[in-house]
Amino acid sequence: MLTEAERKELDHEAEHYEHKQALTIEALKILQNHRGWISDDSIKDIAEYLKCDPSEVDSVATFYNLIYRKPVGKKVVHVCTSVSCWIMGSENIEKRFQDKLGLGYGQTTGDDQVTLVRNQCLGYCDHAPCMQLNDKMYGDLETDASVDAAIDDIQAI
Ligand code: FES
Repeated sequence: MLTEAERKELDHEAEHYEHKQALTIEALKILQNHRGWISDDSIKDIAEYLKCDPSEVDSVATFYNLIYRKPVGKKVVHVCTSVSCWIMGSENIEKRFQDKLGLGYGQTTGDDQVTLVRNQCLGYCDHAPCMQLNDKMYGDLETDASVDAAIDDIQAI
């Protein structure tokens, strides 16, 4: 069930849309912001609010890679594994996370601080290989030292 704060935010956002269903992505972001991730219950709550089928909301949630369908840590690090980054050695980024934090793709540290996910092109190809935390890009991660420095920075944030 939506909380009062969630409903208020959804109502406010809905004012910008002629059709409520066009609000699906924003609704997912709002609930994720409040709940940390999008559970099946969240999908149902949104569908009820938008008066549509839960499968429609679920298909948007599954397609949109910044919507998390599993619990995640406070910091979700997106590593680009598309071709430019792969050629430049993106596989080493996961290896460094594995060595330093015991973390592979789709996993979260035991203290729920960091989740590592793979992603398609982050639009930072001229600094391949790269990764992203929120709005912060980490590029030119070609050496162990550069990846380790980025991991240290992420942990310090
Ligand atoms: S291929 Fe990695 S940012 Fe574009």
